[in-house]
Parts: sequence; C-alpha cells; structure tokens
Amino acid sequence: MARLDADLLLRNARLVTLAGDTGWGLVEQGALAARDGAIAWVGPESALPAGEVLREVDLAGALVTPGLVDCHTHLVYAGNRYGEFERRLEGASYEEIARAGGGIASTVRATRAANEAQLLSQSRPRFASLCAEGVTTIEIKSGYGLDRASEAKMLRVARALGRESGRTVRTTFLGAHALPPEYEGRADAYIDHLGSDMLPALAAEGLVDAVDAFCETIGFTPAQVARLFDAAAALGLPVKLHAEQLSDQGGAALAARYRGLSADHLEWLSPEGIGAMARSGTVAVLLPGAFHFLRETRAPPIEQLRAAGVPMAVATDLNPGTSPLASLLAAMSLACTHFRLTPAEALRGATHVGARALGLADRGRLAVGQRADIAVWALDHPAGLAAHLGFNALLHTFVAGEESHVLRIAAH
Ligand code: NIG
Ligand code: FE
Repeated sequence: MARLDADLLLRNARLVTLAGDTGWGLVEQGALAARDGAIAWVGPESALPAGEVLREVDLAGALVTPGLVDCHTHLVYAGNRYGEFERRLEGASYEEIARAGGGIASTVRATRAANEAQLLSQSRPRFASLCAEGVTTIEIKSGYGLDRASEAKMLRVARALGRESGRTVRTTFLGAHALPPEYEGRADAYIDHLGSDMLPALAAEGLVDAVDAFCETIGFTPAQVARLFDAAAALGLPVKLHAEQLSDQGGAALAARYRGLSADHLEWLSPEGIGAMARSGTVAVLLPGAFHFLRETRAPPIEQLRAAGVPMAVATDLNPGTSPLASLLAAMSLACTHFRLTPAEALRGATHVGARALGLADRGRLAVGQRADIAVWALDHPAGLAAHLGFNALLHTFVAGEESHVLRIAAH
C-alpha cells in the first residue's frame, strides 16, 4: 500500500462524510488525513496506510463533519432594529414598517453614518457567533449602503472579517436591496446606475463574487432585476435572487433564466418556478429564520422541491430586521421543525449544498480532494446537530487543515 504523509491526522472519529446524495455517509472508527489544506485520505482507521504525520489527534469517538457553510447573510450593518421587533409584536407588518420608512431604510441610515472601523467592530460579534458553531465559509451581502462608497465600505468590512478569521468569505453585491432616498420615485434610474456605474466599479475593485437583488412589491420588479442581471452577465458575475418571499413575482424562474446559483426564501414559489430551477440547477436556499421572526404561515413547497430534485440549502439570512438569527445550527433546527427537512437534508443544506449556492464545489463533504475545513462535535449522532435549539456541541474547527480558534469578541 502507498505511504500516506499528512500534516494532520484525525483518528478514532465518527465521520459524517455526506457521500452520495442522501443520508449521512457515516464511517464508524474512521480516520481522516489532510495535507496542504486538502483532505488526502478518509476511511475506516483499520485501512489507514502508514506514513509520517505532523499532528495526530485522537478524537475519542467524537463526530466529524465538514465545516459548515452559511450561504446567505447580511451580517455587516450598523445599528439595530429592536424597536421594529417590538412594533411587529404589537401587530405591525414588515411591509407596513418598510413603507413607513423603517425596515431596510433605517439600517441604511445607520450603516452610511458608520465609518469602516465602527462597521467592522459592530459586525464582528455576529460573525464570531457563526464561527463559534464550526462555520468555515460565510457569504456576506452588501445592500445597506446603496451608494458606491457605502456599498464598497460594507464589502471591504466583509472581506476584512474573512482575512482576520482565516475563513472563506464570499461577498455578494446587493445594491438592488431597496431604493435609496435620493432615488425616490426613480427606481429605473437607480437600476441603470447600479448596472452601468456602481457594479462595474465595485467589480473592478475585486469586491464582488456574485450579484443579488430583492425581487418583491417592496423591492424591485422582475424587469428591473433582469436589467441588473444583464449587467452582471456582461461582467461575468453569477447571480442569485431574493425571490418569492412575500409574494409570487416569478423571481425563481427569472433567476433560473440567468442560470442563477440560487433563489432564496421561496415561500410563494410556484410549480413553474420549481420546474425552471430544476432545469437550470439553481439551488433553493431556505431561510427559516425570516419565516420564524415574521411569523409566516406559508412554508416553501419542500415536498415538490424534493420531488423535482432541486438541491436545498439552509442559511441564517442573518440581518437586523427579518432574521436576527446568528446561529446556523438554529437555522438547521428551524428548517426541520418549520419546513420538515430531515436532519440529514439540513446538514447537507448547511454544507455542500450551501457551498454550491456560492459556486464552490471544493468543500462541504469529507472526501479526498475537498478542502480540509472540518468541524468536530461532542455528539453521538449527527441528527443531534439539528435536533436541539440553542445547544452548541462544537469541540474543534479546522480550516484548510489547521486548527482555528474562535475570534475573541471585541468589547464595544
Ligand atoms: O433577506 N428581504 C430582504 N432582505 C432581507 C431583509 C433585510 C432587512 O430587513 O434588513 C431578507 O429577509
Ligand atoms: Fe436575505
């Protein structure tokens, strides 16, 4: 047998490989070796080849999963919307608050007013909260700046969080989140500005991995989104879309038409939308946090998505308004309870399917050649990840084969 030299060897582990399309892919009494940041060997320990190992860890039977992937967040913002939470509890709806100048617009005011250092220090505890649960890849959207300088500031802060944590941060341009006050009554002009000025400039600075929009009666029309997506396509940038959250706008089919990486929310998704997503390979990103906080009653059509073979991701949607949920494990649990995902679907949704929603095929499973982003848990079965709410059994996180410690949360 060929020798196996490794930088890291995890032994005596219960491996949740997520091999194949369903189930856990469990390997009992398993071992996993990493070299140069990638998984070099995985399988039963009894079959482990001999070789030189720099660091060996006996996990005493602990559970090993791929590092988690949160593929939809708005965690970079300033201020808070706790007053809005209280108003919603008194009966006001999200739409009413948005139309009255609250909602996204109020976070835009606070985010524009914050300087880059303030924005970074306010966002860091939220980012750290995700990292503390073994999340190793995080998508972060802009969309609370809505002018070039403020959107750039948000994207730079997102990238800074990636650098200082060593984790992968993917940045998504969400300039089409809401209409900024200076474009009141001129939504088409704002979309033109995004497509011809703001997006090309931010892309030229290397700050944009994908383009997103809010397609909704209180957001932008499908025709406006299509013009923005044309601009994205011209720059070679992939697209994704907040679609069918509060009403059916045909957003999922629109995203599919542009070979979108994902369509997200989807409570009002139609059979036509499901068919279009299945044909284009667009991932359905489920966001049970927003469903929960808005006290929604209509769940996305999970059974039909499953039957059509549309891959389903699970994410936090961490944002100050509709989903102040800073826990991907909780999102997994809510996806099971509210949407009836199986615990294995929830874990796949928060690992390799979430990665696919970001266009990343190199992570999310324990398989040779995948990035060695790994989480280790004090659990005796992987269903325990989603079967609790508010329980974090994380023991270790490895990022590209190196142990990573949670960021210290700066006091402010
Ligand atoms: O994904 N729907 C629009 N965007 C966010 C909400 C943002 C906010 O309310 O600040 C979402 O739910
Ligand atoms: Fe969102």
